[in-house]
Amino acid sequence: MSKDHLVIFDTTLRDGEQSPGASMTKDEKVRIAKHLEKMKVDVIEAGFAIASVGDFEAVKAVADSVKDSTICSLSRALDADIERAAEALRGANSGRIHTFIATSPIHMQYKLQMQPEQVIEQAVRAVKKARNLIADVEFSCEDAGRSEIDFLCRIIEAAIDAGARTINIPDTVGYAIPEQYGSMIHQLITRIPNADKAIFSVHCHNDLGLAVANSLAAVQMGARQVECTINGLGERAGNASLEEIVMAIRTRPDIFNVNTRIDPAHIVPTSRLVSTITGFAVQPNKAIVGKNAFAHESGIHQDGVLKHRETYEIMKAEDVGWNANAIVLGKHSGRNAFRSRLVELGINFESEAELNQAFVLFKQLADKKHEIYDEDLQALVSDTKAAS
Ligand code: KIV
Ligand code: ZN
Repeated sequence: MSKDHLVIFDTTLRDGEQSPGASMTKDEKVRIAKHLEKMKVDVIEAGFAIASVGDFEAVKAVADSVKDSTICSLSRALDADIERAAEALRGANSGRIHTFIATSPIHMQYKLQMQPEQVIEQAVRAVKKARNLIADVEFSCEDAGRSEIDFLCRIIEAAIDAGARTINIPDTVGYAIPEQYGSMIHQLITRIPNADKAIFSVHCHNDLGLAVANSLAAVQMGARQVECTINGLGERAGNASLEEIVMAIRTRPDIFNVNTRIDPAHIVPTSRLVSTITGFAVQPNKAIVGKNAFAHESGIHQDGVLKHRETYEIMKAEDVGWNANAIVLGKHSGRNAFRSRLVELGINFESEAELNQAFVLFKQLADKKHEIYDEDLQALVSDTKAAS
């Protein structure tokens, strides 16, 4: 894998599904997975095979039907989990087992009730077990964001020696801050002697609204896999959003010297599909996929965009799968945007005075209505023409 390739690992079907109320059927997961495959996502985490019979069947169905992405199943660092994951992935062209164990003092003491040495032993055993069943093994240090760096170095070195080829550093509870998290990734990559044998991955939760910022800081420090979800879906406040990560990387090549394989034209259709299937609406001002992400309402902005779109746009709406940028006519719109929409509708005025008269009526209407639709304009124009 080239050093400038950023692996996009989508976990909408696993961590995304852990959003309360977002559970998906097997067929729904396959539909979403097919969209992710078309988008050229590198790795699709399809579920947690041991969690239920339904999840096993879903991972299996995705593994059997999606051939251009690696299909992954999560598993705890337990033999039974790993065996179930391997069984679900049997039909995959390219399968991955993702095994994890917690590494923070609070998780080891209270949740696992294990000594740090026992945690290392279990991690090594799990990675070896997985490697006996499949070539591609990822190991995650759950709650790495609150783990001690010396301990992380030890367990990761051991996991790489045992055969893990992707090492994931989750900020499980969304506690990290970009500079600190980036520095943590840098320290791990530079301090662990066998770090060059693995790809370092990040998996950030959004409890402080920093999941994307933390992931990007980590990419700048050498992480080469980002785990993310469509629409930022995920446990509690969600995961880093795939569309924001991908578009930040594409829009700022001056900052990030990495590329993804993603075809961004599939972003909006996939976002819509995930929203429809889960019933989780996308907020209108959500970056990239929100209904207002490329809409301009203020007169100054509309005028600017009509003269040169880059005055107020850093990306093209069409590139991410929208039809085009939307000039939304409302009370802040100016004469230029008004005239331009009329021309698009094939409406011409005989004189500037007639246009001005229609514009006055338009402003009066806009004070009463949030958004002015084409039908409103057509009605308004016939009133103006009838009056003159
Ligand atoms: O947030 C997390 O730590 C996880 C792991 C299981 C990767 O989702
Ligand atoms: Zn997670």
